Amino acid sequence: QIHSPFDLVLFGGLGDLARRKLLPALYMLDLDQRLPDGHIVLISRRQMAADELQEQLRQQVQPHLPPTAYDVSSWQRFTQRVRLQTLDAGDAASYQHLVAQLSGGDNRVFYLATGSDLYTQISQGLYAAGLITPNSKVVLEKPIGHDLSSANAINTAVAEFFDESQIYRIDHYLGKETVQNLMVLRFANSLFEHQWNHKYIDHIQISITESLGVESRAGFYDHVGATRDMFQNHLLQLLCITAMEPPARLEPDAVRDEKVKVLRALRPVSGAAIGDHLVRGQYDAGVSAGRPVPGYREEPGIAAHSYTETFVAAKVHIDNWRWAGVPFYLRTGKRLAERACEIVVHFKEIPHSIFPLQHKSTMANKLVFRLQPDEGIRLMLCEKKVGPGMSVRPMNLSLNPANLKQTRVPEAYERLLFDVLSGNATLFLRNDELTEAWRWIDPVLRSWKELEQRPEPYTAGSWGPAAATLLLAKDGRLWDESS
Ligand code: BG6
Repeated sequence: QIHSPFDLVLFGGLGDLARRKLLPALYMLDLDQRLPDGHIVLISRRQMAADELQEQLRQQVQPHLPPTAYDVSSWQRFTQRVRLQTLDAGDAASYQHLVAQLSGGDNRVFYLATGSDLYTQISQGLYAAGLITPNSKVVLEKPIGHDLSSANAINTAVAEFFDESQIYRIDHYLGKETVQNLMVLRFANSLFEHQWNHKYIDHIQISITESLGVESRAGFYDHVGATRDMFQNHLLQLLCITAMEPPARLEPDAVRDEKVKVLRALRPVSGAAIGDHLVRGQYDAGVSAGRPVPGYREEPGIAAHSYTETFVAAKVHIDNWRWAGVPFYLRTGKRLAERACEIVVHFKEIPHSIFPLQHKSTMANKLVFRLQPDEGIRLMLCEKKVGPGMSVRPMNLSLNPANLKQTRVPEAYERLLFDVLSGNATLFLRNDELTEAWRWIDPVLRSWKELEQRPEPYTAGSWGPAAATLLLAKDGRLWDESS
């Protein structure tokens, strides 16, 4: 139940995320008549006349709408509720200007899509201006903090002004349709859950590979790198959903309790042996989508001697009964051969075969959850090769939901923004999840720093550094090429 009217105040209002993801998602919610009445206030440092704002929205947001979603009258209706407010986060008085932009109700969402170093200041400013009502919510974008202590400091400071139930720490990977389908597949069927453990599963791979480079986000990215940008949040969250115990109920805390247990059970990695568990890389010049592209250090705005990693791969263990001895291989990187995201569950091979196996390595069953670019679930089984004899070959059973082809799959941010408006925090992180994720990452970052471990170069357009291939090869395994 969403109470109307509501106001959404977006800090970082004309930033990359707002233009590419948040405003298109809000437009789609409006188009589907799921956005209650109210104003969308974009906070920006730059003043702009109303017609200039309309032009900016047309040029910078419209191209990111799903194909065929644009419609003149819907666009006009949507943009009429969008306002712009200049505000200096450090100037307490400037928050007062916001009051005039709000529609008057007490149902407010403050979306912080700025660097997380501003979250405390903004929360304080909103509080001092009396803008935080009991019905207000605050959404915090990732990465929250730079390490464990800065994340804890932000958690503690924001908690002075907002109750934990009002805080929505967003990780947009949890809003992707297939991630929720993974939960349904696991917990609405008895078929898989019985096999979901060390007795039947050999290992699991989770990959988020990107073909794009750093693009226009050099200022942000060079300080952050792949471990903080993608691993600490998206990859670990996908790991949690894959590995968690069945929650007792589909309620925010029941789900989050199980996710946090996975993070707590992650075997710590640090010190000189870190190279046996993690690989960091940085792209050199190469070819992407058929055209030459510069190396990371040649990208505009990147320091010429930057050691920021654009790739990270890891072998992690979850020390509990279910997962004893099962390695999870995780990787993410920019400027890789393809854009794809997959969770691949590799089942163990059969203990004894009575059939002539032609491609033994391809015969173990695999369950593939593909999150992008297209969404779907696939089970790799064995079948008989037609003809004489009893040869066995792999076959794919597509488990795509029947309605996936006919229905538009909503963007992750549409789902998550709607959940914020309706007060459903199931797909958002609780403070202890954030802390536990940083608790695992912190020693990794510290060890890399102490060992002065530089990222391994890899060619743009490849699958990453050779050391990442070796990480699996040492265990007699290969990374899955995306399908
Ligand atoms: C963001 C990262 O969280 O996720 C970006 O900051 C990355 O660096 C993006 O490109 C990937 O998201 P998606 O949904 O396009 O895979």
